[in-house]
Amino acid sequence: MVGSKAGDRKFRIVRTVAEFREQVSAWHRNDLRVGFVPTMGALHVGHMSLIRRAQEMTDRTVASIFVNPRQFGPNEDFAVYPRAEGKDTLLLAEGGVDLLFAPSVEEMYPGGAVTKVSVPGIGDILEGEYRPGFFTGVATVVTKLLLQAQPDVAVFGEKDYQQLLVIRRMVQDLDIPVQIEGAPTEREDDGLACSSRNQYLTENERAVAPQLYQIINAVAERYRKGERPPELTHWGKQALLDAGFGHVDYLEVRDAETLQGLSDPARAARVLVAAWLGKPRLIDNVPV
Ligand code: PAJ
Repeated sequence: MVGSKAGDRKFRIVRTVAEFREQVSAWHRNDLRVGFVPTMGALHVGHMSLIRRAQEMTDRTVASIFVNPRQFGPNEDFAVYPRAEGKDTLLLAEGGVDLLFAPSVEEMYPGGAVTKVSVPGIGDILEGEYRPGFFTGVATVVTKLLLQAQPDVAVFGEKDYQQLLVIRRMVQDLDIPVQIEGAPTEREDDGLACSSRNQYLTENERAVAPQLYQIINAVAERYRKGERPPELTHWGKQALLDAGFGHVDYLEVRDAETLQGLSDPARAARVLVAAWLGKPRLIDNVPV
């Protein structure tokens, strides 16, 4: 445990489930409401905006940093996913977070841990189709974290819009007593959504990357004016390729709640995209 004093508030790091649970329940015994922000670290302003949202809503704020091996595919970047616990710890302490839970893989998945939480339907499409097992890995670890801490509120970013919906569905289906709060996407000045994976971009790719946001905004605007898929999404994919993106996994306009195709024009819509730019794969989404 390390500590730095901020009034009567101390920043603590704990690494065991027992300490994590004990601290949150001690706060609950004192009638303090607890907000929780799960992350995989390599923190940026997007993560910090979730922390601020949690702070606005509750009395004590907990963050977790855990690069969850079970949500990475065999050919994905688990081994090289950016890890920066020293810098992250400073950011969290300066940001007024009360507790950081940073467990080891063995602490989270002791030998024999086989149970999985999967969310069929909304977890199988879009990201779920291109990253098989991804949402099961996310749902399993988020269920564990929520049951370990039992916070009052947990905050997730709209940057990972489908993840937010999968977690809402899971919490509802499993009667997990927590309020799930969505927070808007933080962006660089040029519109690129902040992401830990942006550091993989070369200088040239970084110059192209903001077009992802521009093009999905253009798709949303055209949708508002009456253009419709598949012509509209075909236009968007071609615009991405012309801009220099390598491959577009998907670019879709979907129902903002179910992520199914839109039949009723009165329902809210969302444009969602995943596209490769060199080594990294970027995802983004905007409301229509
Ligand atoms: P990670 O990618 O570290 O993201 C942690 C949280 O930060 C997620 O809720 C994500 O949506 C949010 N976030 C990321 N970039 C953001 C941005 N630019 N603006 C606003 N919020 C942003 O998502 C995960 O980790 C993991 O899947 C996790 C939920 C921790 C489970 O392992």
